[in-house]
Amino acid sequence: MNRRNFISKSSKTIGFGTIMGANLNHLTDSIKGGEWEAIRNEFLLDRSKIQMSQFLLASHPSKVRNAINHHRKYLDDNPVEYYESNFVKNDYAVLSAASKYLGAQSNEIALTDSTTMGLSLLYTGFDLKPDDDILSTTHDHYSTEKSLEYAAKGTGATLRHLNLYEDPHQTKVDEVLSNLKKNIVPKTRLVAVTLVHSSTGVKLPIKEMSVVIADINKQRTEADKIYFCVDAVHGFGVENITIEDLGCDFLVAGTHKWLFGPRGTGIIWAKKDAWHMVNSTIPPFSAAYLMWMDKMPKGPLSFYSKITPGGFHSFEHRWALKEAFEFHIEIGKNKIQDRTHHLSLLLKEGLEKISHIKLHTPLSPSLSSGINCFEVDGIEAEDVVKKLVMKNIIASTTPYKKVYARLTPCIINTEEEVVKCIEALENIMS
Ligand SMILES: Cc1ncc(COP(=O)(O)O)c(C=O)c1O
Repeated sequence: MNRRNFISKSSKTIGFGTIMGANLNHLTDSIKGGEWEAIRNEFLLDRSKIQMSQFLLASHPSKVRNAINHHRKYLDDNPVEYYESNFVKNDYAVLSAASKYLGAQSNEIALTDSTTMGLSLLYTGFDLKPDDDILSTTHDHYSTEKSLEYAAKGTGATLRHLNLYEDPHQTKVDEVLSNLKKNIVPKTRLVAVTLVHSSTGVKLPIKEMSVVIADINKQRTEADKIYFCVDAVHGFGVENITIEDLGCDFLVAGTHKWLFGPRGTGIIWAKKDAWHMVNSTIPPFSAAYLMWMDKMPKGPLSFYSKITPGGFHSFEHRWALKEAFEFHIEIGKNKIQDRTHHLSLLLKEGLEKISHIKLHTPLSPSLSSGINCFEVDGIEAEDVVKKLVMKNIIASTTPYKKVYARLTPCIINTEEEVVKCIEALENIMS
């Protein structure tokens, strides 16, 4: 199948009609209008390569680069004075953009340096008792697993890992929900999951899972309530969702991946009535510090003031996170979601037609996002990635015990690039 045929064939089934209930007609117009090309031009990426691993560590659009340079210049000129006169205003500007993006309140958000830092602050600070049960899954990232392990060790709580699905490619919402329901026990206090699995590409039905948990909570007292925590890093910057759409109590995300935010940034969001469940583990500055110095009356802290780690940071990066949220809001969260799903579906439909490839990610955008995992018959995933590099395609492998190859198109990529990846994999044996 040549490239022109593939695009025109796929266009009939993918781009120009209704797929899996999602109407993508409007995409055609914006692609024709060159909007995506203009967005692609915002990035300084090496155009001799097809970037299919942007989700690991982002390149920055010009708006973010300029903001970093702006803050860096003033910090270089006069670091302490610039910091002292601007940290409240600049932190607040970041929180305000983040809250607009999430549909949340700004004081419900803590600023971190990565997803890993956020997961650790949340789980090792969680108010667990020795006989509490932590229910996690077999699909989560190392950083979730280790943070929960440390939390269990520090508190004496029990940690269990649940298999939410057997075959990721075939999984259905009902399978996930019934496995969740079956595994919650009276002592379960914390359910820790991941929105989009970087191990398989499966996107969990978080809202439906939150309803299962809310129903169980109706039968429980406040002291026995289950808290629902989500590592959302791989949906954040792709899915057109708000906090309300997810229905969880805590959300953790790095913002240096799909959101194209400054490297070394992230957030934790916490529902107001769950703030008391997390203790500070890294001393916060701001209000907490002033209270310690007796310059402010002691009192309850917002989640931002309680959990954002203190110490001086790479502020030129932290403060330019505002522009990353604005970049996404300006393009439109719905358009970013549709474009990413469209490119992923184009890729997956192409991979499914190749007899030596086994796709592990579900086809439907309702159960997948921008991560696509697969195997090639007789070739180790690491070797698949090496062979793709020789064709200037930057892919990745899943950093898990079971290793798959991954391609992760985002709004910077084009349909042509996706088709080149399919062609490279079609000819990978030769
Ligand atoms: C699901 C998941 N959570 C957390 C992380 C760690 O992210 P960070 O680099 O922001 O700490 C990764 C890595 O990509 C991941 O795949």
